[in-house]
Amino acid sequence: MRIAVVCLGNICRSPTAEVVLTELVDAAGLEVTVESCGTGGWHVGESMDPRAARALADAGYDPSRHRARQFGPSWFDHDLILAMDAANLADVLAVLPADRHQRVRLFRSYDPEVPAGGPVPDVPDPWYGGPQGFADVLAMVERSGEVLVRELALLDTPDPAG
Ligand code: 4NP
Repeated sequence: MRIAVVCLGNICRSPTAEVVLTELVDAAGLEVTVESCGTGGWHVGESMDPRAARALADAGYDPSRHRARQFGPSWFDHDLILAMDAANLADVLAVLPADRHQRVRLFRSYDPEVPAGGPVPDVPDPWYGGPQGFADVLAMVERSGEVLVRELALLDTPDPAG
């Protein structure tokens, strides 16, 4: 299974999610790869925003391997496409073939702190704010990622009824 996480620039939110989700799926022993990209191309080839890298490193993760990539046709075959905010979701759906639209979710649809049945909030863009915005993104990503990986682990469990 392949998961794509999509934000705008692919230097703050989605690379944070890529690093955290990769650790979680590996720890759960799942055969899942997690990649990330941005709908915009301004930062292609760049490493993570230093503020996002700092938040990850402070929490014990390794942010050093990231290079920014842009969403496009090579991402259309991913099994699950997670958009960080409503604009990212709209931009993905505008180019993704309609028969794949059911593979796309908002990232915080897995956030256990979001009331069920209500609107799904964005992972807010931390780019213009201070360090707290990056810490908030990491916290959202960690708690949502744990729920997502639990769901994936259930899918991965053989049906005891055969
Ligand atoms: P990201 O944050 O989408 O979480 O990577 C941003 C990074 C760069 C820009 C906007 C958002 N930018 O406008 O360059």
